[in-house]
Amino acid sequence: MSDRLFIFDTTLRDGEQVPGCQLNTIEKIQVAKQLEALGVDVIEAGFPISSPGDFNSVIEISKAVTWPTICALTRAVEKDIDVAVDALRFAKHKRIHTGIGTSDAHIKYKFNSNREEIIERAVAAVKYARRFVDDVEFYAEDAGRTDNEYLARVVEAVIKAGATVVNIPDTTGYCLPSEYGAKIKYLIEHVDGVHKAVLSTHCHNDLGMATANTISGVLNGARQVEVTINGIGERAGNTSLEEIAMIIKSHNDIDIQTNINTQKIYPTSRMVSSLMNMPVQPNKAIVGRNAFAHSSGIHQDGVLKNVQTYEIIDPKDVGIDDNAIVLTARSGRAALKHRLQVLGVELEQERLNQVYEEFLKLADKKKEVNDDDVLLLAGAERSQNHHIKLDYLQVTSGVGVLSVASLGLSIAGEKFEAASSGNGPVDAAIKALKQIIRRQMVLKEFTIQAISKGSDDVGKVHMQVEYEGHVYYGFGANTDIVAASVEAYIDCINKFVK
Ligand code: KIV
Ligand code: ZN
Repeated sequence: MSDRLFIFDTTLRDGEQVPGCQLNTIEKIQVAKQLEALGVDVIEAGFPISSPGDFNSVIEISKAVTWPTICALTRAVEKDIDVAVDALRFAKHKRIHTGIGTSDAHIKYKFNSNREEIIERAVAAVKYARRFVDDVEFYAEDAGRTDNEYLARVVEAVIKAGATVVNIPDTTGYCLPSEYGAKIKYLIEHVDGVHKAVLSTHCHNDLGMATANTISGVLNGARQVEVTINGIGERAGNTSLEEIAMIIKSHNDIDIQTNINTQKIYPTSRMVSSLMNMPVQPNKAIVGRNAFAHSSGIHQDGVLKNVQTYEIIDPKDVGIDDNAIVLTARSGRAALKHRLQVLGVELEQERLNQVYEEFLKLADKKKEVNDDDVLLLAGAERSQNHHIKLDYLQVTSGVGVLSVASLGLSIAGEKFEAASSGNGPVDAAIKALKQIIRRQMVLKEFTIQAISKGSDDVGKVHMQVEYEGHVYYGFGANTDIVAASVEAYIDCINKFVK
């Protein structure tokens, strides 16, 4: 029988640490239920001591999810562990993930400590956590840059102390695949009692090697992988779940199995991207818009003769269904409800009715409403309670003429209007906006993305605005790209003007 590879998803912890990707508790529950349907073994639901939001999310996810183990992160600190135990009280299967930095850089600069003291603190934390739960995972932060001999001593000590899983993070994404694989092999060969625990990979993508390192770890004996949907995560991100799941599925030469229902991969990817307002790059493996698009004549010819010429994965295996029902202005509520369910979104009747009204307005503007649009509409209530709202926007622009914009805002119910010219329509509209909101704000980042192919598509705008030394993230979506830009700017402002 093939070995089992456990999938530990950290989208809601390491993934959610990305600036601008924060989800509220309801959205996190939605993602957690989708991860359960996808078949992940462990959901890392948060870092409970870090904020009341994380604490509550761990509680609510524990209540909402049945099969996967719910994991909570802590430092090797008793207070962190106490709070995590409290947050996990409703989980049917629970795990505490505790740990400490083990590289010389962490020991010296983070802890001003020494190697022996770090082992003592690691052992104490694992023993303390084992007083409350049977399943304790230990992470040796920056294990990628920790020398193997010392790392083996740490791993041996925490397994003796009761760790059931030991995580070997390449925290900085520095290791080469051969080096990371050799590290896992070294631990398997040199740690006494290593078979009493599962070794886990946790690779970051700073040098674009997260997936290669993870697979190298697995080929050398790791039996848990820590991953995120779409590879989201701090800096360049974490290893992406979909890549690992599909490598394991398509390589019959790797005698290992996961519990992932691969047909749920694409809907899960769309859901996470949409809720986190985090676009997926078009050429992203497995879930990017172009991942299965053959555009060159030679490739198209080959695929038409036999798909095996250029396709190693059947798009249907990851849940991409070209024959999915197309939603148009004539689609009924039932079709919309069905599409949302396929995408993992369950709405109560009243909310469904609201979304349907918005859907009809959009369908009047667009020929076909796609999955991204539908997810966007379902998540749109996030902006309904905004203090500042855009009432109207009118823009004149073109080649050889000055761009002019006038707009109306409603601020806590009161109406304001302004007009301005500018260097292009977005500049004009934002200058008009700034005449009403008189604050020293600086636009730091401005990204526009069209979701699919048509000129009638919904454009998504991501913005970062700096105000009083803090950076605020905003998002807007509209078939009119100037309106989407103004909405994104207003979304930023709503984060600091209450
Ligand atoms: O990258 C890392 O080292 C981590 C640990 C906290 C597990 O995320
Ligand atoms: Zn990490």
